[in-house]
Amino acid sequence: MKETNFLIIGSGAAGLTLAVKLAEKFPKKKITIVTKAHQSESNTKYAQGGVAAVFDLKEDSFQKHIEDTLIAGDGLCDKSVVEMVIKEGPKRLKELMEWGANFDTDANGEFTLGREGGHSEFRVIHHKDTTGNEIERTLLERTNRLQNITLLPHHFAIDLITEHHLNTSKNEEISCYGAYVLDQISGSIFTIKADCTTLASGGMGQVYGHTTNPTVATGDGIAMAYRAKARIQNMEFIQFHPTAFYDGNNGASFLISEAVRGFGAFLRNKNGERFMLNYDGRGELASRDIVSRAIDSEMKKSGDDCVYLDCTHLDFEEFKKHFPNIFETCFQRNIDVSKDWIPVVPASHYLCGGVVVDMDGKTSLKNLFACGECSYTGLHGANRLASNSLLEALVYADCIFNYLCNHMPLQATKAIPEWNDEGTILLNASETLQRKTEELQQLMRRFAGVVRNNDDLKTASLQLEKLYFETEFLYQKHKLNTALSQLRNMVNVAHLIIQQSLKRKENCGGFYNEDYEKIKEII
Ligand code: FAD
Ligand code: SIN
Repeated sequence: MKETNFLIIGSGAAGLTLAVKLAEKFPKKKITIVTKAHQSESNTKYAQGGVAAVFDLKEDSFQKHIEDTLIAGDGLCDKSVVEMVIKEGPKRLKELMEWGANFDTDANGEFTLGREGGHSEFRVIHHKDTTGNEIERTLLERTNRLQNITLLPHHFAIDLITEHHLNTSKNEEISCYGAYVLDQISGSIFTIKADCTTLASGGMGQVYGHTTNPTVATGDGIAMAYRAKARIQNMEFIQFHPTAFYDGNNGASFLISEAVRGFGAFLRNKNGERFMLNYDGRGELASRDIVSRAIDSEMKKSGDDCVYLDCTHLDFEEFKKHFPNIFETCFQRNIDVSKDWIPVVPASHYLCGGVVVDMDGKTSLKNLFACGECSYTGLHGANRLASNSLLEALVYADCIFNYLCNHMPLQATKAIPEWNDEGTILLNASETLQRKTEELQQLMRRFAGVVRNNDDLKTASLQLEKLYFETEFLYQKHKLNTALSQLRNMVNVAHLIIQQSLKRKENCGGFYNEDYEKIKEII
């Protein structure tokens, strides 16, 4: 058993920001970060467009950013959270810059600002088209300089430790005492006992397979919190990014940033028609849900596998300067952006819901906090405005930090049992796990994707139940490994998405059930 004051699960923007702040403020306290792959692997690392924040007070204002966020959220945002995050944003970015992050500026030292769907102004701060990598680099450099942070890469958090493991009275308030963690290199599972635990474990794009997210995004934190009986909300609001590179394969897909459409690119169908204006007056810069549904509808009408992003009319030298990574990656895939249209499809990109937290980042369980993409703060409501998620991760890491400065948790005194896998056997079934994972991903794409309906959701629910029992059977009988844990977590997350989708009885933001559209038409 290891003991720590602060346990942080995840090493993306949210987890690292919190770790750095705690370590600098409390040099005598121990901070432990567990992260399940290489220390930099995260959704953060792949973020392209940037961070939305109001710096240009001549053209822009907090009020405009607040309104854009509320409009995208389609009536489900928590207005006080929106105001708080947007006003805090510039301070958090300045702090990141003090720590060494570089964002693009012009000859006068002013930020060069990008614009993305749903934003009424140019306000996206960026580092070329690799903003996330710059943020991750900065935070990791600072983390690795701090002696009181122990960063454990290739360590997979399996489950949160709560009263459930201590067999205490059912009426007691549920607290979190740390987590059981799998050392992925040695295969052993050990206990990390913590005074305070924070989930910063990111998103769940892999539940759909076809996603802009890297393979680590399997919704583990949400599944752990769900099993520990924390409140989880708004899981039906999955954001599908309209323009993921289409290469015929259903795995992780390279993102073509929305900033490319902000730069003037057009969406065309195979016949060359610029179709977006048939769906929304804002054309290519309508909000993501609208653009994704328009593409879905074009693909269904034509039977084609993708649509195209046309950049051939743009200033090519400027394009290369702004989007070197996109240019290069397309080139490696035989697409010369100056001459060829880029094949694109919508892909699962971001989860607007998650573990419910208050404005201090507190979950419904004592001593358990959450920040970043795994949390539901109320900022995004039914649909996230582009580039508001890195902002949320930075701001909520700071909220948790401020709360802990004033409410230091007491040392956990309860005796925590070690992980018990007596009677289980080694699992030698990587092909079976891979097959079941693909089955789950296909099911979610087919029955709970961009456009849903109640019959499909009920079919998904029935098919998922079978997968749930098969996975639980494997879990009960075998020693845990990463693939089995991830499958179990993705099954839990899929269950939450399907059940919460069935409960939502009207279309809203990123949630679209065609049965409710029909009802509207009849009325
Ligand atoms: P992540 O950065 O995903 O970090 C999660 C961490 O948790 C990872 O280190 C992971 O390995 C670890 N982890 C997960 N489960 C476990 C476990 N069981 N045990 C141990 N560790 C675990 N947002 C913007 O605002 N602007 C953008 O331009 C933008 N572009 C994007 C482009 C792409 C391609 C993608 C995928 C996302 C983009 N987003 C963007 C969204 C944004 O990047 C994420 O929402 C944000 O980075 C999430 O940060 P996080 O710290 O919450 O999670
Ligand atoms: C993008 O660059 O298109 C992604 C921005 C985001 O997800 O906020």
